[in-house]
Amino acid sequence: MKSSAPGKVILFGEHAVVYNRPALAVPVNQVCVDVEVLDSDSAGVFIDAPMVNLHGELSALPPDHAIGSVILNLFQRLNISAPPALNINIVSSIPVAAGLGSGAAVSVALIRALSAHLKNPLPDEQVNDLVFEIEKLHHGTPSGIDNTVITYNQPVYFIKGQPIETFKTGKPFTIVIGDTGIPAPTKESVGDVRRLWIKNNNAFENIFNEIAQLSLIARRSIESGKPELLGELMNQNHELLQQLTVSSPELDRLVTAAKTAGALGAKLSGGGRGGNMIAFVEKESAESVAQALLSAGAKRTIVTEVG
Ligand code: PMV
Repeated sequence: MKSSAPGKVILFGEHAVVYNRPALAVPVNQVCVDVEVLDSDSAGVFIDAPMVNLHGELSALPPDHAIGSVILNLFQRLNISAPPALNINIVSSIPVAAGLGSGAAVSVALIRALSAHLKNPLPDEQVNDLVFEIEKLHHGTPSGIDNTVITYNQPVYFIKGQPIETFKTGKPFTIVIGDTGIPAPTKESVGDVRRLWIKNNNAFENIFNEIAQLSLIARRSIESGKPELLGELMNQNHELLQQLTVSSPELDRLVTAAKTAGALGAKLSGGGRGGNMIAFVEKESAESVAQALLSAGAKRTIVTEVG
């Protein structure tokens, strides 16, 4: 049985989303995880996942292993105490710890392929639920935005704990993603924001409210086919993220380089202090903005069309 899941990028609202404000995220289908589950002749569950140098038996992995724990959690959910002999092959083109949702994408594709192979395919809601439980094991207090956008593979207007709202794009638009190549320490940046929020509660609540407004206006602009506004909204969101202390010199450099090369706006995306930034561009200038990002030190760029 085979399954595939896309990467994702947060357009607006990261960090504020942890404090129940809305955020917007979209799937990135230029990168993905493919999982194949096959019956095996030899006993045990053998996993091959070259992107994390994993070639071995499930039983030999520590219980908190990122991939092993997905499989064990699924067996538990399906009441499987003696798993059949399996070969699981995982191939991913999503860079790890870059803010593109690689962990959630592995979990989604793995749960879908494995549950279908075990003749008990889980509906989206249960896949999403289970992946969120697994995200909590590894990331502390995630908002749930990654697992949601990747499970549903659609643009999502996400508010923690509320029913899932996907939305349509009135007119397609182009985003360039630039990767600093520095692993995004999301757990650490989320923890630091929490400490600062406790100390400067009013100021941080105000910043979160301003970010929430931007997410709301961005959603309306996208839905009504007026994405032109997104550039300015991204610039404002980036400034607010700087105030939350989650930008970095490398991210700021890429944001400036994108704008100098003609992007209509840019911001960091995801946990910050590393990982990715995104730039909103006219389709025609996507390649020159991507080139400028590489010249300014980006390790990788992805051009993606939303909608
Ligand atoms: O670094 P990423 O792309 O996984 O995004 C983290 C987004 C935060 O809002 C900072 C945390 C969260 O759980 O939503």
